[in-house]
Amino acid sequence: MKRIRRSKEFEVNLTITDDKFINPPRDMQRNTMVNRAIKEFSADLVALDTQAKNFVPGETVNEVTDRTQAELSDQQIMEDWQIPLMQAMARVVCGKGGDILELGFGRGIASDMIQSYDVSSHVIMECNEAVIERYNVWKGKYPGKDIQMVKGLWQDTIDDVGLFDGVFFHTYPLNQEEYMKYVNESITFAAHFFPDAAKHLKPGGSFSYFSNEIDSLSREHQRQLLKHFSSFQIEKVTLEIPEDVHDMWWSDTMIVVKAIK
Ligand SMILES: C[S@@+](CC[C@H](N)C(=O)[O-])C[C@H]1O[C@@H](n2cnc3c(N)ncnc32)[C@H](O)[C@@H]1O
Repeated sequence: MKRIRRSKEFEVNLTITDDKFINPPRDMQRNTMVNRAIKEFSADLVALDTQAKNFVPGETVNEVTDRTQAELSDQQIMEDWQIPLMQAMARVVCGKGGDILELGFGRGIASDMIQSYDVSSHVIMECNEAVIERYNVWKGKYPGKDIQMVKGLWQDTIDDVGLFDGVFFHTYPLNQEEYMKYVNESITFAAHFFPDAAKHLKPGGSFSYFSNEIDSLSREHQRQLLKHFSSFQIEKVTLEIPEDVHDMWWSDTMIVVKAIK
C-alpha cells in the first residue's frame, strides 16, 4: 500500500510493505485508518512549522555529565523560566489538599508552593546530598508541619511510601544514560514514572508533570497515560524563555498534565 500527501512545503510518502499490517476486515476500513494517520502527521508538521518560528536559539547542548551528587547553582538546578510550570503543577496536585508526594526538591520553589496550600502531609524524595542540605535549611520555615524527606534515588525508595492524594514529579536525567533512555527514547520524560505514580495515588488522586510537546499531547503519549490513569486534563502554560536558555528547551509554551487515578 502506498500513500503520498503533498503540500507546497513538504511531501509525505508512506509505503506499507506487509499486507497483514493494519488489517481490519474491509479495505475501506484500512484506508480510513491509514489516511487518518497521514492527515494527523501532516497537520503536526504544519503546527511544528508555526511553533519553530517562536523558538529561541538557546545554548549549545552538551552531554549530561553525572549530576547525581553535583553541587549546583540555583539556575543549574532549575532556571527561573520554569517557575510558571511549578505553579500550574502545584495547583493540580494540591487542589484537594490531603497527602502530597513530591519528587525532586531542587531549589524548594515547588515545595514552597505546595506548602502554601492546605495540605495534611508532604513527603519529598531527593537523591542529591547538597540539595538535601538546602532542604534541611528550608524545613526551618515550616515548624510543626508534617514534612518528611526520603533520601536517595526514588527508584530505590518508592516502595517505602504509601498512598497520596497528589503526586508532583519534577526530576531530571542524572546522566547521559538516563538522558538517552528517559528523554531520547521516550515519548515524554515522566513516562518512566507512570506505573509508580499510579501505584501510589489514592483513587481520584492527581499526578502532575510537564511535557515539552508545546501545544498538545501526542496520541502515543495519551495512550501511555490511559494505560495507567482513568482520565487526564492538560493546561498550556506560557513561558518567558531567555534567548540564551541553558536548559534543553526553546519554545514559549509547555504542557502541564493532570492525570487522575
Ligand atoms: C529540576 S530539580 C527540581 C526543582 C524543583 N521542582 C523546584 O521547584 O525547585 C530536580 C531535582 O530532582 C532530583 N532528582 C533527579 N533524579 C532523581 C531521582 N532519580 N531520585 C531522586 N531525586 C532525583 C535532583 O537532584 C534535583 O534536586
